[in-house]
Amino acid sequence: MELIEKLKKRRSYREFESETFDIQILINAIEAAKYAPSGANKQPWTFCIVQNPELKKEIRKQAEIAESAFYKKIPLNWKDDLEYLNVTIDKPFLEQAPYLIVIFKHIFQYDTDNNHTKVYYPDISVGIATGMLMSVLTDLGLDLLSYTPSSDGFLTDVLKRPENEKPFLILVVGKGSSSYKLPEITKKSNEEVIKIY
Ligand SMILES: Cc1cc2nc3c(=O)[nH]c(=O)nc-3n(C[C@H](O)[C@H](O)[C@H](O)COP(=O)(O)O)c2cc1C
Repeated sequence: MELIEKLKKRRSYREFESETFDIQILINAIEAAKYAPSGANKQPWTFCIVQNPELKKEIRKQAEIAESAFYKKIPLNWKDDLEYLNVTIDKPFLEQAPYLIVIFKHIFQYDTDNNHTKVYYPDISVGIATGMLMSVLTDLGLDLLSYTPSSDGFLTDVLKRPENEKPFLILVVGKGSSSYKLPEITKKSNEEVIKIY
Protein backbone atom coordinates (compact mmCIF):
# COMPACT_ATOMS: atom_id res chain seq x y z
CA MET A 1 0.00 0.00 0.00
CA GLU A 2 2.91 2.35 0.78
CA LEU A 3 4.29 1.80 -2.72
CA ILE A 4 0.86 2.43 -4.26
CA GLU A 5 0.72 5.77 -2.43
CA LYS A 6 4.19 6.72 -3.70
CA LEU A 7 3.43 5.69 -7.29
CA LYS A 8 0.06 7.46 -7.14
CA LYS A 9 1.89 10.71 -6.41
CA ARG A 10 4.30 10.26 -9.35
CA ARG A 11 3.71 13.02 -11.88
CA SER A 12 5.58 14.27 -14.93
CA TYR A 13 7.35 17.54 -14.13
CA ARG A 14 8.34 19.87 -16.96
CA GLU A 15 10.22 22.37 -14.79
CA PHE A 16 12.94 21.38 -12.34
CA GLU A 17 14.96 22.92 -9.50
CA SER A 18 18.70 23.04 -10.16
CA GLU A 19 19.65 21.39 -6.84
CA THR A 20 21.67 18.25 -7.33
CA PHE A 21 22.28 15.01 -5.41
CA ASP A 22 24.85 12.22 -5.28
CA ILE A 23 25.19 10.46 -8.66
CA GLN A 24 25.66 7.17 -6.75
CA ILE A 25 21.89 7.20 -6.09
CA LEU A 26 21.30 6.95 -9.85
CA ILE A 27 23.97 4.30 -10.29
CA ASN A 28 22.29 2.19 -7.57
CA ALA A 29 18.83 2.70 -9.13
CA ILE A 30 20.13 1.64 -12.57
CA GLU A 31 21.77 -1.38 -10.95
CA ALA A 32 18.32 -2.37 -9.64
CA ALA A 33 16.73 -1.84 -13.09
CA LYS A 34 19.33 -3.93 -14.89
CA TYR A 35 17.88 -7.04 -13.22
CA ALA A 36 14.84 -6.61 -15.50
CA PRO A 37 13.87 -9.55 -17.71
CA SER A 38 14.83 -9.30 -21.39
CA GLY A 39 14.29 -11.32 -24.56
CA ALA A 40 16.76 -14.27 -24.44
CA ASN A 41 18.54 -12.38 -21.61
CA LYS A 42 20.24 -10.11 -24.16
CA GLN A 43 19.90 -7.08 -21.82
CA PRO A 44 19.68 -4.75 -24.82
CA TRP A 45 20.11 -1.48 -22.95
CA THR A 46 22.61 1.25 -22.14
CA PHE A 47 21.83 3.94 -19.55
CA CYS A 48 23.82 7.16 -20.11
CA ILE A 49 23.84 9.53 -17.13
CA VAL A 50 24.38 13.09 -18.35
CA GLN A 51 25.41 15.67 -15.74
CA ASN A 52 27.78 17.83 -17.85
CA PRO A 53 26.07 21.26 -18.31
CA GLU A 54 27.50 21.74 -21.82
CA LEU A 55 26.11 18.39 -22.96
CA LYS A 56 22.72 19.13 -21.39
CA LYS A 57 22.68 22.50 -23.16
CA GLU A 58 23.48 20.87 -26.50
CA ILE A 59 20.77 18.21 -25.97
CA ARG A 60 18.24 20.98 -25.19
CA LYS A 61 19.29 22.96 -28.28
CA GLN A 62 18.98 19.95 -30.60
CA ALA A 63 15.68 18.82 -29.02
CA GLU A 64 14.13 22.28 -29.48
CA ILE A 65 15.25 22.36 -33.12
CA ALA A 66 13.60 18.95 -33.63
CA GLU A 67 10.39 20.03 -31.85
CA SER A 68 10.11 23.27 -33.86
CA ALA A 69 10.23 21.31 -37.11
CA PHE A 70 7.77 18.72 -35.77
CA TYR A 71 5.24 21.30 -34.51
CA LYS A 72 4.95 22.77 -37.99
CA LYS A 73 3.68 19.38 -39.24
CA ILE A 74 1.45 17.92 -36.51
CA PRO A 75 -2.36 17.98 -36.78
CA LEU A 76 -4.25 20.56 -34.67
CA ASN A 77 -6.00 18.03 -32.41
CA TRP A 78 -2.63 16.54 -31.46
CA LYS A 79 -1.36 20.06 -30.67
CA ASP A 80 -4.43 20.60 -28.43
CA ASP A 81 -3.73 17.36 -26.55
CA LEU A 82 -0.15 18.45 -25.91
CA GLU A 83 -1.02 22.02 -24.91
CA TYR A 84 -3.41 20.78 -22.23
CA LEU A 85 -0.46 18.85 -20.75
CA ASN A 86 1.83 21.93 -20.82
CA VAL A 87 3.91 20.33 -23.58
CA THR A 88 5.43 23.00 -25.82
CA ILE A 89 8.52 23.28 -28.01
CA ASP A 90 10.48 24.76 -25.10
CA LYS A 91 12.42 22.13 -23.17
CA PRO A 92 14.04 24.06 -20.26
CA PHE A 93 13.96 20.92 -18.09
CA LEU A 94 16.76 19.41 -20.20
CA GLU A 95 19.12 22.03 -18.75
CA GLN A 96 17.51 22.68 -15.35
CA ALA A 97 17.49 19.14 -13.98
CA PRO A 98 20.75 17.91 -12.45
CA TYR A 99 20.67 14.66 -14.42
CA LEU A 100 19.35 13.23 -17.66
CA ILE A 101 19.38 9.47 -18.08
CA VAL A 102 19.43 8.89 -21.81
CA ILE A 103 18.37 5.30 -22.39
CA PHE A 104 19.50 3.50 -25.55
CA LYS A 105 18.16 0.21 -26.90
CA HIS A 106 20.37 -2.21 -28.78
CA ILE A 107 19.08 -3.20 -32.20
CA PHE A 108 21.87 -5.78 -32.51
CA GLN A 109 24.94 -6.69 -30.46
CA TYR A 110 28.50 -7.89 -31.13
CA ASP A 111 30.15 -11.24 -30.35
CA THR A 112 33.80 -11.52 -29.32
CA ASP A 113 34.83 -11.54 -33.03
CA ASN A 114 32.86 -8.33 -33.60
CA ASN A 115 30.19 -10.13 -35.69
CA HIS A 116 26.65 -8.79 -35.37
CA THR A 117 24.34 -10.91 -33.19
CA LYS A 118 20.57 -10.81 -32.79
CA VAL A 119 18.53 -9.29 -29.97
CA TYR A 120 14.91 -10.24 -29.25
CA TYR A 121 12.05 -7.90 -28.32
CA PRO A 122 14.35 -4.95 -27.52
CA ASP A 123 11.46 -2.44 -27.20
CA ILE A 124 9.56 -4.56 -24.68
CA SER A 125 12.75 -5.40 -22.77
CA VAL A 126 13.98 -1.79 -22.52
CA GLY A 127 10.44 -0.62 -21.69
CA ILE A 128 10.31 -3.03 -18.73
CA ALA A 129 13.77 -1.97 -17.49
CA THR A 130 12.79 1.71 -17.85
CA GLY A 131 9.58 1.11 -15.88
CA MET A 132 11.54 -0.62 -13.12
CA LEU A 133 14.00 2.29 -13.04
CA MET A 134 11.17 4.82 -12.83
CA SER A 135 9.58 2.92 -9.95
CA VAL A 136 12.86 2.82 -8.02
CA LEU A 137 13.54 6.54 -8.60
CA THR A 138 9.99 7.39 -7.55
CA ASP A 139 10.37 5.26 -4.42
CA LEU A 140 13.53 7.28 -3.63
CA GLY A 141 11.46 10.49 -3.77
CA LEU A 142 12.89 11.83 -7.04
CA ASP A 143 10.75 13.60 -9.65
CA LEU A 144 10.88 12.56 -13.30
CA LEU A 145 9.87 13.33 -16.83
CA SER A 146 9.90 10.68 -19.53
CA TYR A 147 10.68 12.66 -22.68
CA THR A 148 10.80 11.37 -26.25
CA PRO A 149 12.15 13.99 -28.70
CA SER A 150 10.18 13.94 -31.98
CA SER A 151 13.42 13.27 -33.79
CA ASP A 152 16.14 11.73 -31.66
CA GLY A 153 19.11 10.86 -33.90
CA PHE A 154 21.09 13.78 -32.41
CA LEU A 155 21.40 11.88 -29.10
CA THR A 156 23.56 9.23 -30.80
CA ASP A 157 25.90 11.95 -32.11
CA VAL A 158 26.04 14.09 -28.96
CA LEU A 159 26.75 11.09 -26.70
CA LYS A 160 28.88 9.31 -29.33
CA ARG A 161 27.01 5.99 -29.02
CA PRO A 162 27.87 3.05 -31.28
CA GLU A 163 25.77 2.15 -34.32
CA ASN A 164 24.00 -0.78 -32.61
CA GLU A 165 22.35 1.58 -30.09
CA LYS A 166 19.27 3.69 -30.84
CA PRO A 167 17.77 6.33 -28.53
CA PHE A 168 14.81 5.01 -26.56
CA LEU A 169 13.84 7.67 -23.99
CA ILE A 170 15.26 10.56 -21.99
CA LEU A 171 14.51 10.33 -18.29
CA VAL A 172 14.83 13.76 -16.68
CA VAL A 173 15.63 13.32 -12.97
CA GLY A 174 15.68 15.78 -10.09
CA LYS A 175 13.37 17.80 -7.88
CA GLY A 176 10.33 19.17 -9.67
CA SER A 177 10.00 22.96 -9.50
CA SER A 178 7.74 24.03 -6.61
CA SER A 179 6.20 26.69 -8.89
CA TYR A 180 5.31 24.20 -11.66
CA LYS A 181 1.57 23.84 -12.08
CA LEU A 182 0.88 20.17 -12.74
CA PRO A 183 -1.81 19.66 -15.39
CA GLU A 184 -5.06 18.23 -14.04
CA ILE A 185 -5.42 14.68 -15.26
CA THR A 186 -7.31 11.56 -14.21
CA LYS A 187 -6.24 7.94 -14.14
CA LYS A 188 -8.52 5.07 -15.15
CA SER A 189 -10.33 3.07 -12.45
CA ASN A 190 -9.30 -0.45 -11.43
CA GLU A 191 -12.49 -1.76 -13.08
CA GLU A 192 -11.49 -0.26 -16.40
CA VAL A 193 -8.00 -1.68 -16.49
CA ILE A 194 -8.22 -4.95 -14.51
CA LYS A 195 -10.21 -7.90 -15.91
CA ILE A 196 -10.32 -11.03 -13.82
CA TYR A 197 -10.96 -14.37 -15.61
C1 LIG B 1 6.65 7.02 -23.84
C2 LIG B 1 6.33 8.35 -23.24
C3 LIG B 1 6.66 9.49 -23.93
C4 LIG B 1 6.41 10.75 -23.38
N1 LIG B 1 6.83 11.85 -24.06
C5 LIG B 1 6.68 13.05 -23.50
C6 LIG B 1 7.21 14.18 -24.16
O1 LIG B 1 7.80 14.08 -25.23
N2 LIG B 1 7.05 15.40 -23.57
C7 LIG B 1 6.41 15.54 -22.36
O2 LIG B 1 6.32 16.66 -21.85
N3 LIG B 1 5.86 14.46 -21.73
C8 LIG B 1 6.01 13.24 -22.26
N4 LIG B 1 5.53 12.13 -21.61
C9 LIG B 1 4.82 12.28 -20.32
C10 LIG B 1 3.30 12.15 -20.51
O3 LIG B 1 2.78 13.30 -21.12
C11 LIG B 1 2.67 11.94 -19.11
O4 LIG B 1 3.15 10.76 -18.56
C12 LIG B 1 1.13 11.88 -19.18
O5 LIG B 1 0.62 13.10 -19.58
C13 LIG B 1 0.53 11.47 -17.83
O6 LIG B 1 0.92 12.41 -16.83
P1 LIG B 1 1.67 11.96 -15.51
O7 LIG B 1 2.99 11.36 -15.93
O8 LIG B 1 1.88 13.24 -14.72
O9 LIG B 1 0.84 10.95 -14.81
C14 LIG B 1 5.76 10.86 -22.13
C15 LIG B 1 5.40 9.69 -21.45
C16 LIG B 1 5.71 8.46 -21.98
C17 LIG B 1 5.38 7.22 -21.20
